[in-house]
Amino acid sequence: MSKLFQNYKRAEIEFVKADGNYLFDKDGKKYLDFSSGIGVTNLGFHLPVKKALMQQVEQIWHTPNLYQNSLQEEVAKKLIGDYDYLAFFCNSGAEANEAAIKLARKATGKGEIISFQNSFHGRTFGSMSATGQDKIKEGFGDLVPHFSYAVYNDMESVKNLVSQQTAAVMIELIQGESGIHPADQDFVTELSAFCKQNNLLLIVDEVQTGIGRTGKLFAFEHYGILPDIVTLAKGLANGLPAGAILGKSQLGSAFHYGSHGSTFGGNKLAMAAASATLDSLLTNRFLDNVEEKGRFLFKSLKNELGHKVSVKQIRGLGFMIGIETSEDITSFVGKARENGLIVLTAGSNVIRLLPPLTLSKDEIKYAVGIFKRIFN
Ligand SMILES: Cc1ncc(COP(=O)(O)O)c(C=O)c1O
Repeated sequence: MSKLFQNYKRAEIEFVKADGNYLFDKDGKKYLDFSSGIGVTNLGFHLPVKKALMQQVEQIWHTPNLYQNSLQEEVAKKLIGDYDYLAFFCNSGAEANEAAIKLARKATGKGEIISFQNSFHGRTFGSMSATGQDKIKEGFGDLVPHFSYAVYNDMESVKNLVSQQTAAVMIELIQGESGIHPADQDFVTELSAFCKQNNLLLIVDEVQTGIGRTGKLFAFEHYGILPDIVTLAKGLANGLPAGAILGKSQLGSAFHYGSHGSTFGGNKLAMAAASATLDSLLTNRFLDNVEEKGRFLFKSLKNELGHKVSVKQIRGLGFMIGIETSEDITSFVGKARENGLIVLTAGSNVIRLLPPLTLSKDEIKYAVGIFKRIFN
């Protein structure tokens, strides 16, 4: 009998080894990973990250945030590039969103935050309260007050929720957990302009879309906007627990000494992994290549599956793709696994693909062949 809370539905297999984009179970069966551990090991089990981790373990693996941390400075510089942001490091997506909510409230002195129906921002009280899905919140009692939920891609709905007390609007540019729904370009352009005109902070939750997932370091770069606060986690340290917020430097005074913190945030091992991850992502046109391979994957899926009656829509950006289907998605995931391919689901009827960005075209062709066989 398991001694664990049964809050996850776990498949029977356990992965015990990994190499590049492949996972191995206890029986030695090999699987091509089209999930990246839910958008986390974005570079696969990548040697430069492993090397950086091994080197860091040899030196020191934790220091408290009472001392200088040149690795945090290094990762912040790589993330921020030419933007005018400051960084704060934590350990997860929910924590990053908590920090963003706190920063927005403190910087504006206002309490209301507008997020979106069907959004997902995490499972802590603040991030769960921001989440626009009732099923996530059931049974937990009172939520954090002053969150409201606009209709995604509907500017009028946002405007109707704004009051004198609105601090911020919080959005996923592609709603991930609820089924890979990309925001419309016109909507995002208008939302960003509206927030500026009305002194509302724009928080973009890039926990799933960030760190190269869509073919750019941040998904907001596709949309030509500049959020006031960006939240990150998942792929940031390619599998080590790490989260971050980037906030415009003018918000810096709101997070003054003593206002916020995290014991483990910006841990040396996580930062060593994040630094090596960003080195790989930001060199040799790596991300251009991801965009190109993402288009290839999308096109191959459309060509091979687009005409199937059970495929309703294929949507997404880069290596974040959803196949909406009338098939039973749980049984699809099982069949893919039997065929040596690991995929995810999202919402009630979407097969979610978050493959490692290091995937080759041959691996894409191989996986699409498996999808085709299963759909047949
Ligand atoms: C967009 C988004 N925000 C926040 C989270 C929560 O992240 P974590 O599970 O690391 O707390 C997730 C996780 O799936 C997510 O997809």
